[in-house]
Amino acid sequence: MTAGADYSRHVLGLWFDVCDPGGPRLGAIDRLAQTAEGRKLARFAAMLMVETGFKDESVHAASYSYKPIDGSWESGEAEAFLKQKFGAGAATYDEIKAQRLTAAQFTDFLFDSVPVEPHITVLDVGCGTGLVGERLLGKVGVLDGIDLCEEMVAKARSKNVYDRLVVAEAAAGLAGCGTHDLILCNWCLLYMPRLDDFFAAAARALSPGGQLVLTVYACGDAWDALAMGEREFAHSRPYLRRLAKSNGLAEDRMEIRVLCASPGYFCVFDNP
Ligand SMILES: C[S@@+](CC[C@H](N)C(=O)[O-])C[C@H]1O[C@@H](n2cnc3c(N)ncnc32)[C@H](O)[C@@H]1O
Repeated sequence: MTAGADYSRHVLGLWFDVCDPGGPRLGAIDRLAQTAEGRKLARFAAMLMVETGFKDESVHAASYSYKPIDGSWESGEAEAFLKQKFGAGAATYDEIKAQRLTAAQFTDFLFDSVPVEPHITVLDVGCGTGLVGERLLGKVGVLDGIDLCEEMVAKARSKNVYDRLVVAEAAAGLAGCGTHDLILCNWCLLYMPRLDDFFAAAARALSPGGQLVLTVYACGDAWDALAMGEREFAHSRPYLRRLAKSNGLAEDRMEIRVLCASPGYFCVFDNP
């Protein structure tokens, strides 16, 4: 198996096996994933599958390209790494099409899933440069944001769409921001191997009747979370459900959709 045409042929071959009802389906993914190269291909194939509606299959395939979490992320270096990574990219963040599209796809899901009304208060966690906030301008009563990267927050502030912006780590920021009717967290939880602190803080920061709308990269149900890259993580449905339940939240919607070229879970949890 090599790059180029061969590569495409293998990805397409796998995709045909998966969508052929009489074909090997998931077994085709399992077979391909026997080799390291096959596991790399599985990730590309997952993208094709999620785009074409083979959603559970796409999560199955993508999980093969992820790895068990080894624990090295636990160190305090993670926050410094993220500040550096996003600090360096803040100025040009909005120029990248995939980043604009990912924010737009999240807000499409949001508008499709929950009432976004002029009187509600909204907190955008991991708000980045404010690409989600921009799409809420004029549609909600209060819009606040939290992000751990100062440069990203400065960019968001320059757009004048947030009422209040706080530079803080998500759970700590949530604890200090009062309650909101709607808490959003798009494309940010991938930097957290464990979501326990986030869920606990978000549940406490939701108004009664409020909703938490979030995205994560998706991994298969057999794990809580898997590592996608150096400091990026995918999370599973059972893990999200367990955290929601243990923090008193009820699942309202959980869908597999494209999250920047990989399968993701797009979720709404209600604070009853
Ligand atoms: C990929 S960007 C997405 C930004 C925005 N949500 C969007 O949809 O355009 C991820 C953002 O999450 C922030 N972030 C990552 N981990 C965080 C954490 N633990 N607490 C607060 N912000 C975090 C980063 O600084 C970055 O601005």
